[in-house]
Amino acid sequence: MQGMKLGSDMIQVHDLHRHFGGFRAVDGASLTIETGSITGLIGPNGAGKSTLFNVIAGVLKPTAGRVTMAGEDITGLPPHELFHKGLLRTFQLAHEFSSMTVRENLMMVPGGQCGETLLNTWLRRGRIREEERALRRKADEVLEFLTISHVADEKAGNLSGGQKKLLELGRTMMVDAKVVFLDEVGAGVNRTLLGTIGDAIVRLNKERGYTFCVIEHDMDFIGRLCDPVIVMAAGKVLAEGSADSIMKNEAVIEAYLGTGLKNKVAAELAEESAFGESHGAQPGLGAEAGQGGDGKPAGDL
Ligand SMILES: Nc1ncnc2c1ncn2[C@@H]1O[C@H](COP(=O)(O)OP(=O)(O)O)[C@@H](O)[C@H]1O
Ligand SMILES: [Mg+2]
Repeated sequence: MQGMKLGSDMIQVHDLHRHFGGFRAVDGASLTIETGSITGLIGPNGAGKSTLFNVIAGVLKPTAGRVTMAGEDITGLPPHELFHKGLLRTFQLAHEFSSMTVRENLMMVPGGQCGETLLNTWLRRGRIREEERALRRKADEVLEFLTISHVADEKAGNLSGGQKKLLELGRTMMVDAKVVFLDEVGAGVNRTLLGTIGDAIVRLNKERGYTFCVIEHDMDFIGRLCDPVIVMAAGKVLAEGSADSIMKNEAVIEAYLGTGLKNKVAAELAEESAFGESHGAQPGLGAEAGQGGDGKPAGDL
């Protein structure tokens, strides 16, 4: 953990704003992501979750407010500087990488390799070959960790949605990540692979000390992985707590809804307690939010 204590603050967001013209997409959000946590971030479509991620990760400049990482002010730093500090936000596979193999995609992640950045001279060839071998070894370890070794030589463009998400996660493992931001990691992913992604996140957290902040609509997934869960609505933090407490929180249910969902959640909670255990029932906040939001697809902007 390179000197960072568990339980200390990895990321602190203070009164953050990001406005688009007069529209306040993030409107005074304050939150803390503790070192060693898998923090969930949920909220209806249009709540400002992705915008918040983009500001933290340096993709968008804040209108106002402050972000610190392990106490250091990182507000407005560009993504490559944050990347070198170990703050990573996964991105959808760029189109131009889809014709490269899965292994090559991992080997492209900037790190110590000198093949592209240094003079590719005759004198350096031996060293470059050595670094390439080391990179290849690392890529293969990552693929094994993620249980997708069998697609190492497959073109990335041919992967299923879930395998692509695993590859995106894999890219964070090619460098020394400390905190990883995942936006809608479950979108378009089948149940089995979502389980694999969840397992990989938990293992990276437990075995490698990664801190995560995860945006996801699937409340099963959030409930299994995340503690705490932070809820955003209308650009602000509305609530924070365990997944269970969040799902029973009136204000949260109100934010998602319309009373239709409120009644549905209440009915499902009643049904669950009638069974005396959770048996995989999903309150389905995501599905409802998707329909009741601003009419846009749930995907990244
Ligand atoms: N670049 C932009 N220009 C104008 N409005 C934007 C832009 N990005 C996001 N928004 C608006 O900000 C609000 C929050 O968006 P977003 O952060 O994507 O929400 P979420 O990820 O919670 O669904 C939405 O109403 C969206 O339309
Ligand atoms: Mg979003």
